[in-house]
Amino acid sequence: MFGRERIEYKTPEQILLMRRAGLVVAGALDAVRASVRAGVSTAELDAVAASVIEGAGATPSFLGYHGYPATLCVSVNDEIVHGIPGTRVLEPGDVVSVDCGAIVDGWHGDSAFSTVVDAGPDAAAALDTQLDIQLVETTRQAMWAGIAALATGERLGDVGEAVEDVVAAAADRNGGRPLGIVEDYVGHGIGSQMHLAPDVPNFRTRERGPRLRAGLCVAIEPMLVRGDQANRELEDGWTVVTLDGSRAAHWEHTVAIHDGGIWVLTATDGGATELAARGVEVAPLG
Ligand code: MF3
Ligand code: CO
Repeated sequence: MFGRERIEYKTPEQILLMRRAGLVVAGALDAVRASVRAGVSTAELDAVAASVIEGAGATPSFLGYHGYPATLCVSVNDEIVHGIPGTRVLEPGDVVSVDCGAIVDGWHGDSAFSTVVDAGPDAAAALDTQLDIQLVETTRQAMWAGIAALATGERLGDVGEAVEDVVAAAADRNGGRPLGIVEDYVGHGIGSQMHLAPDVPNFRTRERGPRLRAGLCVAIEPMLVRGDQANRELEDGWTVVTLDGSRAAHWEHTVAIHDGGIWVLTATDGGATELAARGVEVAPLG
């Protein structure tokens, strides 16, 4: 874990370009979120994101990445990540994870959210839907705890520790069994490419990882499951599903460290609200 590859540290000017990419991704995901409801196909969500990105004069980063065929990844229920948008129609109570990346002037932003498709008041009261909502919320909390650790920590390994601690503390919110952290997929450095060194694991590791310092930009992206973390890739060569069929959630933000502090590049408010709630002040650049 963490590897030994060189880290691309960014200048303040480069972080400002990444902010532009981040805001495009934030806008695309806001539009997708407003479109998520029962009866909508995952291809329709993809079209929403594609039009926002194109309208902003940016480039979708997933499309064509190692041959990936879409703008978004849309992963439903037991799909953890890399679900390909298509004819699948969302149903009430589905857990939907939407991942989006965009490029502005060669600089990348990458972000994801999960949500539960509105199931109406009766279904929403059902225990299983409540546990799905908890799954999504715990994953979101784990991501923000990881982001806060990037601001207050010393080493990149502090992020995974913070994520793991949130998941452990939520053990009572999954009907008697702990939530699983998917260890096969990790966050990553990001900048002039979508995936750069270093890895950002969502769990404790033996190595503490590189020192946190100005210019480091990372995508923090925990993936949690309600059952076992064991997973496999479908025949389409992309979609990753849980082996036990349990449901999964995924949240992600691109975050920059600079001399003044951290800035969440894919959050419209730079992360101010969520981080203030965790005792951290964000530091916008420029
Ligand atoms: N956004 C994903 C990540 O967070 C990567 C998507 S892979 C792609 O790392 F092929 F869909 F682009
Ligand atoms: Co990512």
